[in-house]
Amino acid sequence: MKAAGLFSVRMRAASGTRHLSGAERIVPFGLVSAVLGQFFERAWSKDLTPDEIVLTVEPLGDTAIQERDALPFLDVPADGEAECRKLASIALQGAGVSLAAAEEAFQALEHGPSPEGSAMRGAMIMDSRTGERMEPDRARGIRVSRFDWSDEASRRITDELNRLGLTHFRTREALALATKVAHAPGIVAELCWSDDPDYTAGYVASPGFGYVRLPLLKQQGKTGGGRAFFIDNRSFALDAFTAYLTLQPVVITKAGRCSRTTDMTIALF
Ligand code: COA
Ligand code: AMP
Repeated sequence: MKAAGLFSVRMRAASGTRHLSGAERIVPFGLVSAVLGQFFERAWSKDLTPDEIVLTVEPLGDTAIQERDALPFLDVPADGEAECRKLASIALQGAGVSLAAAEEAFQALEHGPSPEGSAMRGAMIMDSRTGERMEPDRARGIRVSRFDWSDEASRRITDELNRLGLTHFRTREALALATKVAHAPGIVAELCWSDDPDYTAGYVASPGFGYVRLPLLKQQGKTGGGRAFFIDNRSFALDAFTAYLTLQPVVITKAGRCSRTTDMTIALF
């Protein structure tokens, strides 16, 4: 697919130095102004009124767009934080992350991965064998951008997730982000839980088995959280990884299988 006539539309809202919300789409010219309106409403609907909303419209010109199938989605309704983290660790190790690296990531997300012990503005990059941090800036990290669902895939994934009772827009957006990440050169796996104190669910994703949602990777009310991208250091080039994740437009044109299981290991391995 060529990007001619397509636009990257992005929104970020902040209160002082605090980031409140962000969203993005890839749409044709005719939808740009409607999406800007939706983003404005989304930015304004948060509990805190932003004092800055930045809306960006960027023509994608001749850039070739990558089309991808969504990762298969598996919901694992496990009980309690300890059980969810244990399952996340098993999934990460099944994807090729060492126990030491998985534990390094849990510690970082638990205590705040930035040098100040707070959330980062993007994701950590971690060596999947040693757990060594590889992102050049530990407060900023790396931020995935320029991805979206096609209309058809968006309808289908929304229906599928609704069928599982997962109606929060975050699930669909996180699945899109994880799908883009799963195609990054050198990626092994991803771990995420939100820094939003009201959102306790998180996920592990890998190119091999897809996206695994776990309902309680942290306790309600806690602000810690973040993302870790685990990479294979033998086939990793920071420039190519960063250029792909930040600049390469990716549209997900096919929704994947969505299912639920109480036995994650049987479903995955
Ligand atoms: N947390 C904290 N600060 C953020 C931020 C975040 N998630 N996203 C943006 N900012 C702030 C930072 O100060 C950033 O400066 P920096 O590059 O020095 O960190 C500044 O805004 C500009 O960010 P930039 O990414 O250049 O802005 P943008 O307008 O091009 O895109 C987003 C903003 C939020 C749309 C994009 O960064 C993003 O995260 N896209 C994915 C959105 C999504 O679908 N998320 C769902 C995941 S579950
Ligand atoms: P969220 O799921 O939006 O609550 O984000 C959880 C964490 O993921 C944040 O604390 C950031 O560290 C990181 N993050 C947010 N947006 C991005 C992004 N676009 N790309 C990579 N990491 C992100």
